[in-house]
Amino acid sequence: MERIPEPELMKKKEQVISYDKADFLEGELNLINQISHYLLRENISLNEKDLIVDLGCGPGNISEKLAIKWPNTEVIGIDGSKEMILRAEYNKEISMNQRKLKNLRYICSDIKDIKSTNFLLKKEISLLVSNSLIHHITRLEDFFNTIRRFSSNITVNFHKDLKRPLDEKSALELKTQCSDKYDEILTNDYYASLRASYTFKELKNFILENDLSSLEVFEDGDKYLIVYGNV
Ligand SMILES: C[S@@+](CC[C@H](N)C(=O)[O-])C[C@H]1O[C@@H](n2cnc3c(N)ncnc32)[C@H](O)[C@@H]1O
Repeated sequence: MERIPEPELMKKKEQVISYDKADFLEGELNLINQISHYLLRENISLNEKDLIVDLGCGPGNISEKLAIKWPNTEVIGIDGSKEMILRAEYNKEISMNQRKLKNLRYICSDIKDIKSTNFLLKKEISLLVSNSLIHHITRLEDFFNTIRRFSSNITVNFHKDLKRPLDEKSALELKTQCSDKYDEILTNDYYASLRASYTFKELKNFILENDLSSLEVFEDGDKYLIVYGNV
């Protein structure tokens, strides 16, 4: 199936509300566990000196879980949509875990516009994460150039995203499954996201062709891709 890009930022209020009220808990906990296993395997522990950055943080679902999982680190969520950042701030404010989220803050910016020098980030990033971001980025080189800019030799990257279905029929089947669980706005967004997603081959080829071979890509089940390692 041909890739059909979708807008990068989720700016519309109704889109943000619909995304925010959906329950993605299982997938989110799964991602935190995957990151945690990977760090353990690499013998990496995170503490006070470490900074975790969540790119395209949306309403903060993953950022909050990172902040709770690694309470001694500093966690920053970045999103270019003002509506999303407002929602993330609000979610933090009303969270039952509010006291555990003191280490978390948000920045509203397009990730492509942030220069590591200008950064409100005063230290090097230890863990650079994204979930469901890559498919939003119109050009793959923008995503990889961004993570290159954000990374130093201590940075562990871990990025999870949807995998583009093989054909339109499979995409429509997934859309139908989504509509059983979620509202119409989210279902349409999900369908647009599936069509905008990259394939394993596209990510792998980009990595091989652009001197990024310390990054690995693998297929996580039949719906997801994970890019991890160093840049
Ligand atoms: C599908 S949501 C995922 C949100 C969150 N990571 C999660 O897993 O719940 C994708 C988010 O990426 C943000 N985004 C897309 N392109 C971006 C860019 N170039 N710069 C900053 N944020 C971006 C969108 O605004 C949206 O909030």
